[in-house]
Amino acid sequence: MPQRNNSNRNLLNTTQKPAFDVSDNHVNDKHVYQTDIAIIGAGAIGSLLYCQLAAIKQPLLLTRSRSVGATSHDDFSTITLETLSGDSLHQPCIQADINQLNKAALANIKLVIVCVKAYQVTDAISSILTLIPQGCHILLLHNGMGPHLQVLALLKQQPQLKQGLSLGTTSQAALKLGPLQVRHTGKGKSIIGHLSGPVMPLAIQNQLLAAVEDMSVVDDIVTSLWQKLIVNCAINPLTALAQCANGELAQPQYKLQIEAITQECIMVAKADGVNLSLPDSVAIINQVIKLTANNFSSMHQDIHHNRKTEIQQINGYVVARAAHHGLTVAMNQSMLTKITALESAQ
Ligand code: PAF
Repeated sequence: MPQRNNSNRNLLNTTQKPAFDVSDNHVNDKHVYQTDIAIIGAGAIGSLLYCQLAAIKQPLLLTRSRSVGATSHDDFSTITLETLSGDSLHQPCIQADINQLNKAALANIKLVIVCVKAYQVTDAISSILTLIPQGCHILLLHNGMGPHLQVLALLKQQPQLKQGLSLGTTSQAALKLGPLQVRHTGKGKSIIGHLSGPVMPLAIQNQLLAAVEDMSVVDDIVTSLWQKLIVNCAINPLTALAQCANGELAQPQYKLQIEAITQECIMVAKADGVNLSLPDSVAIINQVIKLTANNFSSMHQDIHHNRKTEIQQINGYVVARAAHHGLTVAMNQSMLTKITALESAQ
């Protein structure tokens, strides 16, 4: 167990300027959050990013219900981050229920980071789209691919909103220990890149880069996301089916399956206009298996906890794109079928 630091660097102090202009406990037109970055989703990665951003500037946490730690009359609570070195950092957490917000409350928001599960992204965007100010940038940060196509379609329907869209991915690892309590379990690279509309305001982008260690901006985010997708296509279903930690996939019996999944992904990526190399991709997968040997993949955990998985946005995306191009991807299809069967048996 990591050692806890009981000195509690509690940032909730009376000298701090509140990031929310409150005069009573109800969200109405008088309430305007004085923050410019909002995070949707209080899962492991959403909570970790919240804490990392809060260390430099107070963000706003948007959830579907404030049951994640606050009472219904309490917008202010504390979020605890257990750092990689085992220290506990307590930071003020300002959260709001998306369903109780109005446009005025979010008037200052310049960036919304969407950290929900891949299958929740479109709903989250639909809920927030008419509430965020014109020109507010959206960053999708989730496993898998596909939701960006639906979000692009939603944004196209409302061009007057002038919302820019960026995509990103992170290899940082985190574990949710409880409501508003997260443990940072692994360092990792994070990348973001522009997809459509106006670019992310530079000042906001710089805040993000300053807050998240090892985060960088790439020119071709779609290629980078395909590369990450291939890693997920191999590691996630295989670990969920074998109920093992990632490191187990280094055993020789998985070599052929990993190569077959990867080869199909590369074929489909190519048909989508993205060129990736088979040896490089297999090498990256093997490196992730080695670096995260003791971790349980997100899909393994979802199956283990009887939760819905992101299979549709991982192998399912490859299957869907293959069908679009008239290609056959037997191994990815088999992963999709098996994981879907496990999900429905739950
Ligand atoms: O989904 C996950 O668990 C992660 O993206 C990865 C890279 C497979 C490591 O566990």
